[in-house]
Amino acid sequence: MLTTYAVLGIETSCDETSASVVANDRKILSNVVLSQLNEHRLYGGVVPEIAARAHINHIDSIVTRAMIESGVKFADLAGIAATGGPGLIGGILVGSTLGKAIASAHCKPFIAVNHLEGHALTVRLTDAIDFPYLLLLVSGGHCQLLFVKGVGLYRRLGTTIDDAVGEAFDKTAKLLGLGYPGGPAVEYAAALGDCSNVKLPRPMLGKAGCDFSFSGLKTAVRRRVNQVKEILSSQMVADIAAAFQKAVSDTLVDRTKQAINLLEIEKINNQFLVMAGGVAANQTIRAAIADLAALRGLQFVAPSMNLCGDNGAMIAWAGVERLALGLIDGMSFRPRSRWPLDQYAALSSKTNKV
Ligand code: KG4
Ligand code: ZN
Repeated sequence: MLTTYAVLGIETSCDETSASVVANDRKILSNVVLSQLNEHRLYGGVVPEIAARAHINHIDSIVTRAMIESGVKFADLAGIAATGGPGLIGGILVGSTLGKAIASAHCKPFIAVNHLEGHALTVRLTDAIDFPYLLLLVSGGHCQLLFVKGVGLYRRLGTTIDDAVGEAFDKTAKLLGLGYPGGPAVEYAAALGDCSNVKLPRPMLGKAGCDFSFSGLKTAVRRRVNQVKEILSSQMVADIAAAFQKAVSDTLVDRTKQAINLLEIEKINNQFLVMAGGVAANQTIRAAIADLAALRGLQFVAPSMNLCGDNGAMIAWAGVERLALGLIDGMSFRPRSRWPLDQYAALSSKTNKV
C-alpha cells in the first residue's frame, strides 16, 4: 500500500494569495484563497506593484491558516511547492522566496511549479484522468491549446497572437462599465441579454491552425459602445455582453475543433478534452466545449468551479506529481516572469506570450 504524503503549495503569480496542502491520494486537506478584489477594483484591473505588496501583507497568515486547517505539521510535509512563474514577478518572488525559506528551515525539497502546469494538471487531482489529453487553457494571461503527454511534457498546438481570453473579458467588462473582475460580471450580464441583437466578429474562425486572436473582438465591442451616443441602457449592456460571450465561445469551439482534427490527422491517441483556467468557470463556454467533446466522442473534463481560477491546491498537486518523479529544484531557482510550457513552441513562435 502507498504511504500518503502531503505537499504545501503556494500561489502568488497574479491577484490571488493562496496556500494549500494536498496529499498524494488526491485529498485537498486545505485550500485558502484570498482574492485581492478590493485592492484592484478602483483601477479596473490588476496593478502589479499593489499585487506584490498585498501578497507580502497576507502570505504569512494564509500559509499559517492552510497548515492549521490541514492538520499537517511543517516537519511532516513531503515538500514545499511554489509558483515559480510565469506571471507578475513581484508576487512570484514573494511566494517562491517564502517557499524556499520554509523548505530550507525544515530540510524539505523545494519544487518550483510552472503556473500553467498547475492549471494543466488540476484535472488529474480532481478526476484522476490518465495522460495524454487535449487541453484548452483559458485564463487571464493565456489562451492555449496544449497536448498534455505527461508531467513536463507539453506540445503547444495553438496560442493567442494578441490578447488572452480572460483579458478580453476583463477589457469588455471595463468598456461596458461592469467593473472588476470582468469575467464573472460579463457572464452575469450576458445571462440577461440577447446575443442576436448585436453583431460581433468571430476572429480566426475557419482559419488554418489552432491560434487565437481576441484584439479585433475587443475593438468591435469598443466601436459598438462608441456608436451609442447616450448612456448605455442596461439592456444594451446585457445584449453586448451576450454577443461578446457568444463570439468568444464560437471562436474557442472552432479553434478546439482544429486541434482535435490535427490530432486525428496525426493518428494520435486521445480520449479527453480538458478545459482549465479562470475562464473555464464560464458556464456558457463550458457547455459549448462539453458539447464539442460529445460530438467528437471525447470525454469532457474540467475542474470544479473553485479550482478553475488561481489557487494553491493546483500548485500543491503539481508539486505532488513532480515530487513523485524526483523533479525537485534547488535554492538557486530563479523566478521567471516568462516561462512557456512548451519550450520548443516558444522558440519557433514570434507571437508567444509566455
Ligand atoms: O486562471 P485565472 O484565475 O488567472 C490567470 O492565470 O490569469 O484566470 C483569471 C481570468 C480573469 O481574466 C477573469 O476575468 C476570468 O479568468 N474569469 C472568467 C470567469 N471567471 C473568471 N471569464 C469568463 N467567465 C467567468 N465566469
Ligand atoms: Zn491562472
